[in-house]
Amino acid sequence: MRRKLVVGNWKMYGNLESNKVLLEAIIKGVHDYRNADYAVCVPTPYLFQAQAILQDTNVAWGAQNMSQFEAGAFTGSVAPHMLVDFGCSYVIIGHSERRELCNESDPVVAAKFEAALNDGMKPIFCVGETREEYESGLTEQVVARQLDAVLNRIGPKGLCQGVLAYEPVWAIGTGRGATPQKAQAVHSFIRNRVAHLDKAAAAKVRILHGGSVRVANAAQLLSMPDIDGALVGHASLVAEEFVAICRAAN
Ligand code: PGA
Repeated sequence: MRRKLVVGNWKMYGNLESNKVLLEAIIKGVHDYRNADYAVCVPTPYLFQAQAILQDTNVAWGAQNMSQFEAGAFTGSVAPHMLVDFGCSYVIIGHSERRELCNESDPVVAAKFEAALNDGMKPIFCVGETREEYESGLTEQVVARQLDAVLNRIGPKGLCQGVLAYEPVWAIGTGRGATPQKAQAVHSFIRNRVAHLDKAAAAKVRILHGGSVRVANAAQLLSMPDIDGALVGHASLVAEEFVAICRAAN
């Protein structure tokens, strides 16, 4: 039985003061929820704050991106071991906003996945098709290509040490998420593709769903057999919303 995982992706929002209020409300809200896992991925400058506030709670923390390199002349980049220094358990890899805005390619995403595992973090590896690809019926083709880049690099046993997140790009930030049935179909496609290589790895790997996950649709999405949690953007910035989604997972 896969344990559900709810991860907040704060994106580029927050400040020291608002973070403190939000984190303390989340800690209080999920304190008694012991049947699932919870985490927040905060902007990098706030990792120290997240660590100070969240350590010894049942809420883990992580980053939203990192370099695939451990050191070097990469102005503005952050190495995996630096995230580990601040206690990160998770790091989001290959989010569609980074693929699109920062031209992150499949091979770069795969290299980051491997680098995160090497440093003992769990990468949260995002896949998903754009609206155009969706409307052209290319969902499975695109998701397969993104998935295979990581599978070809580290294999199914490596993949299942991390976490997958299927986020249809057309659902992100729109308030109109995929229906549970549509989401389930793609989650099942992903798991079957892994199962084709390694049944045990496929049974083990957690596949989160993302893209306008809200209180209103969380319970239904989370009841689908291949949806093992949620990657939550905007709703994770409102404590009551995020806690309610965590309650649905619990
Ligand atoms: P959203 O974002 O919940 O605001 O749609 C999800 C994400 O980008 O991870």
